[in-house]
Amino acid sequence: MKRRKEVYLTRRIPEPAISLLAAKYRVLIHDSTRPPTKPELKDSIRNKNAILCTLSDNIDKEVLQEAGPNLKVISSYSTGYDHIDVIEATRRNIIVSTTGDVLAEATADLTFGLILAVSRRIVEADKFVRRGLWKTGWMPNLLLGSNVYNSTLGIIGLGRIGRAVARRAKGFDMNVLYHNRHRLDRGLELRLGVRYAGINEMLRKSDFLTIHTGLNEDSSNMIGKHELSKMKNNSYLINTARGGIINENDLAEALRKNWIRGAALDTYGHEPLTRASKLLPLSNIILLPHIGSGTYDTRTKMSRVAAQNLINILEGYEPIYSVNTQSIRREYKRIP
Ligand code: DGY
Repeated sequence: MKRRKEVYLTRRIPEPAISLLAAKYRVLIHDSTRPPTKPELKDSIRNKNAILCTLSDNIDKEVLQEAGPNLKVISSYSTGYDHIDVIEATRRNIIVSTTGDVLAEATADLTFGLILAVSRRIVEADKFVRRGLWKTGWMPNLLLGSNVYNSTLGIIGLGRIGRAVARRAKGFDMNVLYHNRHRLDRGLELRLGVRYAGINEMLRKSDFLTIHTGLNEDSSNMIGKHELSKMKNNSYLINTARGGIINENDLAEALRKNWIRGAALDTYGHEPLTRASKLLPLSNIILLPHIGSGTYDTRTKMSRVAAQNLINILEGYEPIYSVNTQSIRREYKRIP
């Protein structure tokens, strides 16, 4: 009997991925509430035909060195792929696939939720009531915040998520500036109602600055002391992309010294956020545990796409979303 191909999942992700994969392959799961350690990853990648990983797994050169010649695909249950050494994977002819655009709307929803929550101090206000601090009924100066309506939104990175945020901003009559590696064509700018701006103009003019770019050499530590000191002192910084884009110690200083009015983060340079983080004691920041794509519907779609990418590659078809198929010479069967 022909031996079934072996697939390793670094976490138990929501269905339908596991059922789809188990119908075809031998599936081994790291069934734990924590991600595998590096030695566990190195051990598990050996002799596998495919890996389905999450953004918590650092698939670096050292891990990839343990992969045998049978490893054909690393399918990430994420859109970001900064946790994978794509250059080394490409050198080894391993396709790296992602969940692409499917989480754009959910992440844009959460981004907008954070814009509203931080500017209207929703989390602080909830705590105020629960802690029994609300003693005198309506108060003229209680928990005052900032208008979202008619304000200026700066979007760094106008890919699918950035554009989804821009569409939401139109409902609030916001004036939308964007900064991107490549400027969009004029027609698309007009349709989205956005205006291209240099980074300095974005910093100077934005009431809300939101980040939607991937983490790479150019964007790493892109927002630090220098940039924060140029922002308006009644502005807010939002990040639902990758934590490494912001220097967190510099942000803590900016918030302490009121260089900006507030911030809201869903992602961090190190996850989970350590108890020693200088951001934790501050009240003018909202801190979420990386839940941008966290809706039932989106996580189910991501699961289907991650499994389908993996199956496509093992069966000789092109994946739905991949980051290095152009660099790997392979003949694909035509999808029936
Ligand atoms: C991603 O997929 O890259 C998000 O950050 C988590 O879903």
